[in-house]
Amino acid sequence: MADLGQFGKPTGIIGKFSGWMMDRYNKLEHVETIKSLDLQPDDHVLEIGYGTGQAMDLAAEKIHDEKIVGVDHSAAMFEVALRKNKKWVDRGVVELHVGDARKLDFPQESFNKVYSIHCIYFWEQPEVNLREIHRVLKNKGIAAITIRTGKGEVYQKFTDTNVKNWLESCGFKNVVINRLGKRKHKASVILGEKQI
Ligand SMILES: C[S@@+](CC[C@H](N)C(=O)[O-])C[C@H]1O[C@@H](n2cnc3c(N)ncnc32)[C@H](O)[C@@H]1O
Repeated sequence: MADLGQFGKPTGIIGKFSGWMMDRYNKLEHVETIKSLDLQPDDHVLEIGYGTGQAMDLAAEKIHDEKIVGVDHSAAMFEVALRKNKKWVDRGVVELHVGDARKLDFPQESFNKVYSIHCIYFWEQPEVNLREIHRVLKNKGIAAITIRTGKGEVYQKFTDTNVKNWLESCGFKNVVINRLGKRKHKASVILGEKQI
């Protein structure tokens, strides 16, 4: 397994500092991803790669009758997200897991919304993970994949058009790209629907 670095799999104190940076620099993407999912009180939601759990904290405000489940493979992020979301965990609205997006430990058709922010760059075979997302989504469920766009090397592989194509090749329909931000901070939320 390649070294994913402190953003791909944060560890220890440096990983926690990386988490602090993610919260600071990724707020726009967190807010816009949650907005674009149009969360309803009875949505059953999965977040992959929750980091410090900042986006989940926003999402939890909207969920009343169901819950939001998170999976991240970093034990350091699990600790931070648990602390940040304590009130939601205590109320049973948030449930956090340590696990890998390549093989999600949930039955098929478990969730009606799944999102993942700034995580896909660390997936060796993005289509394997996107197929897993498709598997755990219910019919008519929505997936949102959020990425930064720009000139950096990683962004050349993970363009919003490539993510759209991968989603389509994994069976998603009605795939759309919402472009956000400006100048030095541009991002896209790519949304797809499962239809069976
Ligand atoms: C750059 S951070 C982004 C965190 C958060 N989503 C944000 O936007 O601030 C990427 C996160 O995804 C997690 N991650 C990366 N690949 C993963 C995988 N295959 N399965 C589960 N978590 C993964 C990392 O541990 C890390 O917490």
